[in-house]
Amino acid sequence: MQIKRIAVLVSGRGSNLQTIIDNIENGSINGSIEVVISSQKEAYALERARKHNVDGVYIGKGNFPDIDERNDKIIKLLAEKEIDLIVLAGYMNILNEKIVRLYRNRIINIHPSLIPSFCGRGFYGERVHKAVLDYGVKLTGATVHFVDEGADTGPVIFQKAVEVDFDDTVETLAKKVLKVEHKLLPLGVKFFCEDRLRVHGRRVEIDDK
Ligand code: GAR
Repeated sequence: MQIKRIAVLVSGRGSNLQTIIDNIENGSINGSIEVVISSQKEAYALERARKHNVDGVYIGKGNFPDIDERNDKIIKLLAEKEIDLIVLAGYMNILNEKIVRLYRNRIINIHPSLIPSFCGRGFYGERVHKAVLDYGVKLTGATVHFVDEGADTGPVIFQKAVEVDFDDTVETLAKKVLKVEHKLLPLGVKFFCEDRLRVHGRRVEIDDK
């Protein structure tokens, strides 16, 4: 099976990017990261890419203020790098329909809640955990899913629950969920790279033999 060529899109710290790098380096993921694209110039994720000799590129509002030009620049880069899989690892932008159409069922996102709860526009990063605590639910978690034209609405690949304790804060909850994300995202990428995910409408069949 051919090694999958991966682009990872990030906006910040990049701890999820790091788990993909680590799982490629330890042989668990049969893929190679061809480029890391950051929407933030100073994202620490770009530093992580550099440390592992991965190309890191800033494409954001600063250098591409026009949203269509920004998306076209991303599309051009993905084509140049012959990308098979796009991973959104803490990417705080929404990709336009053109990219979603070109890479249908080949874009994976990690979200820090149990979709369809606490997701969609405005729900990202710590805001998700704050909303979970404000609502008072007892369970939250992480979701890995394919990206479609909506915000966090694509077919779900993996989910895992995390218990919310009464004395949890945004920080403690974020930490517990992140630990689960760091297992779930590399697992999703691994299964994709081994052609073990099949999409049937909204449902994803996992070949776990
Ligand atoms: C992660 O918790 C990820 O699930 C979340 O941002 C964080 C990025 O952390 N993504 C979203 O909220 C997307 N809607 P990282 O930069 O350390 O990977």
